[in-house]
Amino acid sequence: MAHTPDTILSIAGLSKTYASGFSALRQVDLQIRRGEIFALLGPNGAGKTTLISIVCGIVNASTGTVRVDGHDIQADYRAARSLIGLVPQELTTEAFETVWATVSFSRGLFGKPANPAYLEKVLRDLSLWDKKDNAIRTLSGGMKRRLLIAKALSHEPRLLFLDEPTAGVDVTLRQEMWQLVRALRDTGVTIILTTHYIDEAEEMADRIGVINRGEIILVEDKAELMRKLGKKQLTLQLAQPLAAVPPALSGYGLALSATGTELTYTYDAQRDHSGIAQLLQALDAAGVAFRDLQTDQSSLEDIFVNLVRDREAA
Ligand SMILES: Nc1ncnc2c1ncn2[C@@H]1O[C@H](COP(=O)(O)OP(=O)(O)O)[C@@H](O)[C@H]1O
Ligand SMILES: [Mg+2]
Repeated sequence: MAHTPDTILSIAGLSKTYASGFSALRQVDLQIRRGEIFALLGPNGAGKTTLISIVCGIVNASTGTVRVDGHDIQADYRAARSLIGLVPQELTTEAFETVWATVSFSRGLFGKPANPAYLEKVLRDLSLWDKKDNAIRTLSGGMKRRLLIAKALSHEPRLLFLDEPTAGVDVTLRQEMWQLVRALRDTGVTIILTTHYIDEAEEMADRIGVINRGEIILVEDKAELMRKLGKKQLTLQLAQPLAAVPPALSGYGLALSATGTELTYTYDAQRDHSGIAQLLQALDAAGVAFRDLQTDQSSLEDIFVNLVRDREAA
């Protein structure tokens, strides 16, 4: 796909075979849009960190090209790398450094001129300003995570990678991280986060890419994904229990609950003709009365499990 002004990261034909012979990425093509939050969702070992590591120049690709805002990560490495901030999966910080020294040094590594006002804003936005003179070892776990973000932002990147930002983090910290990521996006930074938590992708992302065994098996707007692949269920609470689904209704694939009091109809939410109108008429004709009904849409979790299962069956 061609590079457009709306694309900040363009990955084409990217593969990685490690020295062990293990094929961690297979022909990955991916375009990231400027200003979006993109979640790369996949189980452990799928290749998420490998992908990020290649884009950040930590791991060499076996084949393929990566462009960051038009800059090739090999031919034009410095320009490409200066546009990227990386919050790595593993927490690594120098325990005895102060917060301020850490972010100042990190900025310097990218050859950026000093800009105390910018670094102050970053630390304030991350609620770390009053800790600026503290040694890192005195910070709480949540503060250390925020410091890694501050460090990654120190050189004013346009594209921020968060590799499993909430793995092993408690619920409160998770919520805090999600708010922070949204706030960052609102400042114009494009965000790519990797996660193996489906709810995180569902909560955060504008678009979701699913990666499994080194292959991107789907990329879709989150809302579209839910609409397209989501099945809906209509559940009817019956006025009288049934012993079995009446033969006249056999064509609808209805499921009768063990108690005989609920009938469930599963349909494709994307189709124009859900078949609900006919079903209700058929119920009426068969003399089946109901006292209430509800519909449920399947979650991304169902979708994800189905996708990965379909792949494995194939
Ligand atoms: N340096 C390496 N040498 C050989 N295999 C590796 C190396 N790094 C990662 N792998 C393998 O590549 C696969 C993808 O790893 P990774 O990219 O870390 O996945 P994820 O971040 O999605 O959990 C895993 O099976 C992992 O064991
Ligand atoms: Mg990883």
